[in-house]
Amino acid sequence: MAMISQKTIDLIKDTADIVDVVGEFVALQAAGKNMKGLCPFHSEKTPSFFVSKERQIFNCFGCGKKGDSIKFIEEYKHLSYVDSIRYLAERYHIDIEEDHNTQLKRTDVNLYKANDLALQFFTLNLLNIESGRSALDYLLDRGLNIQTIEEFELGFAPNKNNALLTHLSNDFQPLDLMNAGLVNRNSDGNFYDLFRDRIMFPIRDEQNRVIGFSGRIFGQNENPAKYVNTPYTEIFSKGLTLYNLYHAAPHIRTKERVVLMEGYMDVIKAHMANVKEAICSMGTQLTLDQAMVIKKYTDNVVVCYDGDKAGREASYKAIKLLERAKLNVHIVSLPDNMDPDEYISKHKDFEDYLNNNQLDQYEFVYQMIVEQKDFSRPIEIEQAKDKLFDFFSKTSGMIREIYLKRFASETNTNYQTLLGDYQQNRLDEKKFSDYQAKLVRTQKHDIVYPRYEIAEIAVLNYYLKDIRYRDLIESKLRMMHFQNPGIRSLIYTMNAWGKYPEDPVIVLRSKISAKEVETLDKYLYQTYDYNQEDLESCILMLQIANLREDIKVNEINAKRALADNNPKEYLRLMDENRLIQGTIMKLERGNNGQKTNH
Ligand code: UTP
Ligand code: MN
Repeated sequence: MAMISQKTIDLIKDTADIVDVVGEFVALQAAGKNMKGLCPFHSEKTPSFFVSKERQIFNCFGCGKKGDSIKFIEEYKHLSYVDSIRYLAERYHIDIEEDHNTQLKRTDVNLYKANDLALQFFTLNLLNIESGRSALDYLLDRGLNIQTIEEFELGFAPNKNNALLTHLSNDFQPLDLMNAGLVNRNSDGNFYDLFRDRIMFPIRDEQNRVIGFSGRIFGQNENPAKYVNTPYTEIFSKGLTLYNLYHAAPHIRTKERVVLMEGYMDVIKAHMANVKEAICSMGTQLTLDQAMVIKKYTDNVVVCYDGDKAGREASYKAIKLLERAKLNVHIVSLPDNMDPDEYISKHKDFEDYLNNNQLDQYEFVYQMIVEQKDFSRPIEIEQAKDKLFDFFSKTSGMIREIYLKRFASETNTNYQTLLGDYQQNRLDEKKFSDYQAKLVRTQKHDIVYPRYEIAEIAVLNYYLKDIRYRDLIESKLRMMHFQNPGIRSLIYTMNAWGKYPEDPVIVLRSKISAKEVETLDKYLYQTYDYNQEDLESCILMLQIANLREDIKVNEINAKRALADNNPKEYLRLMDENRLIQGTIMKLERGNNGQKTNH
């Protein structure tokens, strides 16, 4: 990779005035010949964060963070050194001159290495040590064979607190392993293996590098979390990753489709049943990022989620998302609430079933809307109608006409009457969204850091309040995007929990440092009127802010793609930004009558 020339770096340092750079994010006031403000890196009520125009540095006497403009952007935006330079270059309209001779030293090289060595350790354990035997038996019992186990590089993490730590102690400091998401630290400051007594599924990225793991319990493990996943790291983010994509890629290309499933075992079993183009999004709801990744490989997605109600609802959400990425979607519903793994264990014909039982997205959604409705009751017609109008307003006119006609006929009503209702419904929607857009325009300038921070604190409290709130938050937010570092690290700790404890506050308190306890106490509400609507409006604010950040990061990457003469990547990023922009607009409008006073 080319490196940014020293000349460019110097020019950026000269141009990007520290007061200007910091001032965009922190309210600064004069203090002698310096400026001061509330430190964005730790929580405080009185300012101990100073900026020196003369020396072009920032310095916090509270938390000790200091550095120049580039350092500030690195810390504040969570960008790498190079990306921070690109960010500033962008902002100050400076062209980047590349110096092709030197090799860039990246910190994440280490993280890949650590994961790779961990993989070697886990796979060796499964086949070679005594305690791995029961893990292996479990897998064989579930219908896997040695060849598949080797192909998917399944492994075993021993039931010890520091098996991996000890194994890698010559190559890595415990802190490096913690950054790689392989070990944790307890409140006494001692490190321990994150994965213990678990069957290990390595997760590889699109370049076939190991970036993380998921560990499944089996046998007598006391810990009830079925899967424990690598937490968010510099190289691993669940919302960006698709399991098995690298190995599925050639099959996706030849079959001109990808099969999207819910879990690892589904994907592995599908592979054994000759459906080698299967991938999964690892239990979390599909994200737009993942949809865009899929789009690079194929335009055709077959969604084959679990055959239960939750699976159908997840399919419906996935359809809307995949459509946003302009993908053609087909859905396969499995019988008797089975997931693909179970179906494959019980029947020999999975591949045929998959090929012969696909519904296109319109048909699937239509059937879902009318399913279990009693059309002899007008109220049920009315309820179905709203969903119908909502979904089919986004399709072409032809498709809409076909399904509205069918609905009219199935409910024994007049198509013209239905069409009239549809038009009225759209007019109402438009009036409403225009009104919302106006509101958003006038309010836009209010959405600044303090309100954002209040929303962030509220989300933290919701996270600790109830598992349903936690699920909602995790399905809608990417954890690493919390801007307040104190809150981020608390969320980070909680995010690694496989199971939601009965008393989260107590558990959290036992796992964090004294300093973090201080942060927790500061933000923990004594009383609060918890309700889902309020949480949703907080999430919305965070989502929109995150999406705006995504756009900026994409712009930086797009510039690089352009420089690297990679139009495909450039177009993809710009396309993604358009989609994100659209998402932002929809989110802003979709804030129907919800409270906006956060
Ligand atoms: P499932 O609970 O459906 O698991 O979760 P599964 O794939 O059928 O697994 P088996 O067959 O019991 O072994 C689906 C996916 O959700 C994620 C995993 O990616 C899993 O494959 N998941 C589930 C987690 O990340 N953590 C959990 O605790 C549970
Ligand atoms: Mn299963």
